Amino acid sequence: MAKSKVLVVGGTGYIGRRIVKASLEQGHPTYVLQRPEIGLDIEKVQMLLSFKKEGAHLVEGSFSDYKSLVDAVKRVDVVICAMSGAHMRSHNILFQLKLVEAIKEAGNVKRFLPSEFGMDVARIAGHAMEPGRVTFDEKMTVRKAIEDANIPFTYISANGFAGWFACNLSQMAPLFPPKDKVRIYGDGNVKAVFVEEYDVATYTIKTIDDPRTLNKTLYIRPPENILTQRQLVEKWEKLAGKELEKIFISEEDFLASMKDLDFIMQVGVSHFYHIFYEGFMTNFEIGEEGEEASDLYPEVKYTRMEEYMKNISV
Ligand SMILES: NC(=O)c1ccc[n+]([C@@H]2O[C@H](COP(=O)([O-])OP(=O)(O)OC[C@H]3O[C@@H](n4cnc5c(N)ncnc54)[C@H](OP(=O)(O)O)[C@@H]3O)[C@@H](O)[C@H]2O)c1
Repeated sequence: MAKSKVLVVGGTGYIGRRIVKASLEQGHPTYVLQRPEIGLDIEKVQMLLSFKKEGAHLVEGSFSDYKSLVDAVKRVDVVICAMSGAHMRSHNILFQLKLVEAIKEAGNVKRFLPSEFGMDVARIAGHAMEPGRVTFDEKMTVRKAIEDANIPFTYISANGFAGWFACNLSQMAPLFPPKDKVRIYGDGNVKAVFVEEYDVATYTIKTIDDPRTLNKTLYIRPPENILTQRQLVEKWEKLAGKELEKIFISEEDFLASMKDLDFIMQVGVSHFYHIFYEGFMTNFEIGEEGEEASDLYPEVKYTRMEEYMKNISV
């Protein structure tokens, strides 16, 4: 069967650039939206040119020019959107509503993967606390638009990107590994899921032509990467050959810390609370509405966290 043609929107982004590479690597004719608004951003320009060199097609289009979006999606079978949605960087999830309109009008797209790539928003949206709930509410708004328009979809629940959650042993900041002390949430025994970003991209591309994930959520929960924060820290200590001082943060103190922070950090605290105190990455069984990535694609040799941390400890 011929491989689907894929358009990546947000292709120069943190996860988007990996999705472009995985799509090329897995042999899909790959198109990347080239937005005029990137202007003189030389790094994005160079990245787009490097994609072109590797065989991608650059497609000009803008969120301010609806027709250009319709024309871009008409060229492909599958659209993957990796629009920004982490407040620490930038957050434009609702821009995708224009893309959904364009996909509906074009009428040819066999699968749309909106920008999700985190916790399962359907499970958390009704529960999430302020101010971080905006992320989940907006992703749900996009889901509703997709489903109202009868657009075939797959939602990717990628859980914790390793660069944000494993590299620094799940500290909120900085993103480098701690040297002497580590903050532990509660008793540190709530299970989370850590996934290396290129693995997220690999599973994302694997799913696009797979009928088993049509109109479903693909949960990326590689079994050996389902770890408590304590287990993650132990792995690091073993590699580093030293013990870190543990500072245990009670639930009350963690939530109280929010009041002195700016909005962006408050969003972070609320997301961390759902992950490390409430266990929202793992506190449910995957039901009929979903599939687990490493079950469906056992051929993917996903990156274990020991291996990942070995690379950052050198
Ligand atoms: N699970 C996790 O741990 C985790 C961590 C971080 C993010 N995420 C999720 O992953 C998804 C992508 O996040 P990311 O951090 O990869 O995003 P990002 O790098 O901040 O941005 C992705 C792309 O969004 C596009 N974009 C930004 N502002 C735009 C605007 N004003 N108009 C049009 N396009 C704009 C740009 O596309 P161009 O390439 O066209 O310039 C940019 O490269 C989000 O849904 C986010 O919530 C998950």
